[in-house]
Amino acid sequence: MDAKQANILYHDAAARSYDAKWSISFDQRCISYVRQRAERMLPRTHYARVLEIGCGTGFFILNLWQAGYVERAFACDISPGMLAACLESARLIGCDLDARAADAESLPYEDGSFDLVIGHAFLHHLPDPAAALREAHRVLARGGALLVAGEPTRKGDRMARVVGRLTSRAVRTAAEFAPKLRKPPPEGAASLTQDERILQDLEWDVDLHTFVPEETAAMARRAGFHSVRVETEELVSSVVGWAVRTLEAEVPPGALGARWGAFAYRTYLRLYDLDQRFLYRALPKDLFYNLLLYGEKA
Ligand SMILES: C[S@@+](CC[C@H](N)C(=O)[O-])C[C@H]1O[C@@H](n2cnc3c(N)ncnc32)[C@H](O)[C@@H]1O
Repeated sequence: MDAKQANILYHDAAARSYDAKWSISFDQRCISYVRQRAERMLPRTHYARVLEIGCGTGFFILNLWQAGYVERAFACDISPGMLAACLESARLIGCDLDARAADAESLPYEDGSFDLVIGHAFLHHLPDPAAALREAHRVLARGGALLVAGEPTRKGDRMARVVGRLTSRAVRTAAEFAPKLRKPPPEGAASLTQDERILQDLEWDVDLHTFVPEETAAMARRAGFHSVRVETEELVSSVVGWAVRTLEAEVPPGALGARWGAFAYRTYLRLYDLDQRFLYRALPKDLFYNLLLYGEKA
């Protein structure tokens, strides 16, 4: 199966549980998250026609629209399941979203159609990210801008995998002494739903890239962008965030108590503040987990 086919199958299967898995919502919590990234990267606070590529369930475009940055919202994704979820969320918040099934590497829009093109956590799924940047450049109007966020850096991703493995080992050791942390053994493949089986089988086939800040900036320049800027975010917050995610996946539901979610989120916010206010000034950009890219069309 080629990588695009795998992405369609995987994300169609992921669509129904995607918001719950990644704590995506369309309320103040996620609006502020998106607004914070927009304030950091975008020179303006309002854009007329905004397209999100690889929109998933609409986390980035719908929350940016709610934050007031977007006049007319457009979204595309290669997964029809994700698009359906995105349209449903748009309907619930009253956003008149124009959504289409499309491959990021060959967009079904005329040249110069948008004032801002955005994307969040989609570039690393594409066989040819450079082709997607060229397409983003083509569909932008003159003077338009590109904002990509939420892409894993190479070092950040390696660190996250190590943290995941160590946490998993630590939880299993702890579970030998604390039975409430012990998950019942899986009942075997036969007990999985079709979606669960697809997610399990394709988990390692859909994440194709990680990014190095300087190389990503050069790729955007080659695609035609100028005023290119690459920033990164999340270091300690990402280490703790991945440990928390692994822990939550390893123990039975509810084992961490009712107040766990709020506690974990508050801890993340404090650590994010530490990362960006202090560590980002002192440490190399490529150690941080998430990459943000900005560029303009002349
Ligand atoms: C990790 S999800 C991110 C979704 C959303 N942007 C978010 O941040 O919640 C990646 C998304 O990229 C989409 N995708 C993968 N390959 C694609 C392609 N070739 N063209 C367009 N979208 C693609 C997937 O279907 C999925 O919805």
